[in-house]
Amino acid sequence: MTTDQIYDVVIIGGGVVGCATLFHLINNGYNCIMLEKNKDLVAEASAGNSGMLHTGFDAPLGSLELHCIQQCQLHIFDILNKLDLPYNRIGATMVAWDSAQMSKLPKIMQHSRISNLSEINQLSLSELYQREPNLSRNATGAIHIPGETIVDPWLTPMVMAEHARIRGAKIYTRNIGSKIVINCSGLYGDIVEKIAGYSSFKIKPRKGQYLIFNKTAKDVISSSILPVPTEITKGVIVFKSVYDNVIIGPTAEETEDRHPSPTIDSVITKRLWNHGKKTVPSLLKHDIVHMYTGVRPATENKDYQIIARPDRNWLTVGGIRSTGLSGCIGIANHILSQVKDKFGIEPSKSSWETIQKVNFKFTKNGTVMFPYGIEHLITHPLTFTGVTRQMISQSNL
Ligand SMILES: Cc1cc2nc3c(=O)[nH]c(=O)nc-3n(C[C@H](O)[C@H](O)[C@H](O)COP(=O)(O)OP(=O)(O)OC[C@H]3O[C@@H](n4cnc5c(N)ncnc54)[C@H](O)[C@@H]3O)c2cc1C
Ligand SMILES: *[C@@H]1O[C@H](CO)[C@@H](O)[C@H](O)[C@H]1NC(C)=O
Ligand SMILES: *[C@@H]1O[C@H](CO)[C@@H](O)[C@H](O)[C@H]1NC(C)=O
Ligand SMILES: *[C@@H]1O[C@H](CO)[C@@H](O)[C@H](O)[C@H]1NC(C)=O
Ligand SMILES: *[C@@H]1O[C@H](CO)[C@@H](O)[C@H](O)[C@H]1NC(C)=O
Ligand SMILES: *[C@@H]1O[C@H](CO)[C@@H](O)[C@H](O)[C@H]1NC(C)=O
Ligand SMILES: *[C@@H]1O[C@H](CO)[C@@H](O)[C@H](O)[C@H]1NC(C)=O
Repeated sequence: MTTDQIYDVVIIGGGVVGCATLFHLINNGYNCIMLEKNKDLVAEASAGNSGMLHTGFDAPLGSLELHCIQQCQLHIFDILNKLDLPYNRIGATMVAWDSAQMSKLPKIMQHSRISNLSEINQLSLSELYQREPNLSRNATGAIHIPGETIVDPWLTPMVMAEHARIRGAKIYTRNIGSKIVINCSGLYGDIVEKIAGYSSFKIKPRKGQYLIFNKTAKDVISSSILPVPTEITKGVIVFKSVYDNVIIGPTAEETEDRHPSPTIDSVITKRLWNHGKKTVPSLLKHDIVHMYTGVRPATENKDYQIIARPDRNWLTVGGIRSTGLSGCIGIANHILSQVKDKFGIEPSKSSWETIQKVNFKFTKNGTVMFPYGIEHLITHPLTFTGVTRQMISQSNL
């Protein structure tokens, strides 16, 4: 066996967490391989999210989740700029619709201020309607979180993976069984991270459904409109993609199925529609152009499950339920420090000082082409609807 077949790290799973980890470890000199069981990268939990880069204003204090989101906030904008990836710091407005919701706002602001992380401001009703003139007149109060940002949830991990490939990472899809992977890790002392379900926790899939509106609706909101969260859920958001589609979602339904059919539940569609009507009535004058669903890798634990098992050369990275995109680079950095500190593995190459732009082109057939002949199917409906549908309709003119 030649030395270039011995990797420092094996990463199982090519979702946003695996792709960001591959990107970060390669940049730090680790010789890595990423194994993905599907034909396409970013095709499971990471293909059904909202594409929001959260500031962590509502993440539990002291949690690993908050730590990773904070770390990600420190580095992700420089990375997005250097990779020339689209993002929009549109901010979020959390709106209370009655006095019970109103009474929760001070606690949310206080929580955010203790975490020291994001700017958060109370809005008077006149400030609210100045910012959001199409919002229903029934609001009783609001807070504004200017740092909440939207990104392309598919391009971001995908370009990170391709950036890693250009720097020598190996990415294998479809053809690898986990028996071989476990064996490889055992023989070569590599670190294997398993994303979905390991012995110490159980994945409890939680489904979310969305409605996507025509870009004609883009001016109905200027920031993401959040409800006041309940104990159970963060609630349904009215937000915008980086491609200017307005979206209502996600819902949160417990499900047994880790791979639910992409079919839409019409009862839930109705609920989303009513949420839109209550929040921004004029949105409903615009057409729904697409619907989609996603599944969160939730567990019985609220926090991330990142567990080092140095005796078995195994690092579990799981339960990245609802902020995997927002925390991606922070998670990758946490993994990097575990690889060094808990496993004592040093990079076999020198690290890279810079991040370089990766060129790519959207095609009319729903894929993205990279100049060295790699073509990826766009698996995220936000990216597909935002870019490809428009290209198809323009080419028909
Ligand atoms: C409705 C919804 C809304 C969300 N909104 C947001 C948001 O706005 N912002 C945010 O930050 N987060 C959001 N999230 C959460 C975010 O999408 C997840 O935290 C993130 O996708 C988790 O990424 P992952 O890489 O851990 O999992 P995945 O994307 O599921 O990736 C795991 C990969 O591992 C592969 N795999 C599994 N087993 C094996 C094996 N044995 N061998 C090889 N490969 C294997 C799978 O095929 C899969 O591709 C949302 C999630 C949902 C569902
Ligand atoms: C926030 O900052 C204050 C003062 O710098 C510090 O005492 C406190 O521990 C910080 N809180 C968190 C959650 O980091
Ligand atoms: C693991 O790899 C070794 C060496 O390649 C091989 O002899 C053995 O059969 C493999 N074990 C399993 C369980 O695949
Ligand atoms: C959005 O609306 C415009 C204008 O009414 C229309 O031309 C276009 O086809 C619609 N787009 C989609 C994807 O339905
Ligand atoms: C916002 O509301 C105004 C008046 O209520 C309406 O004329 C306008 O079309 C709405 N904007 C959008 C983008 O729907
Ligand atoms: C505003 O509240 C009133 C009274 O509760 C209700 O009748 C009306 O439908 C609400 N308007 C919207 C847009 O939800
Ligand atoms: C998609 O389109 C590109 C060019 O637009 C083409 O090179 C490629 O072969 C197409 N791929 C498929 C799967 O049709």
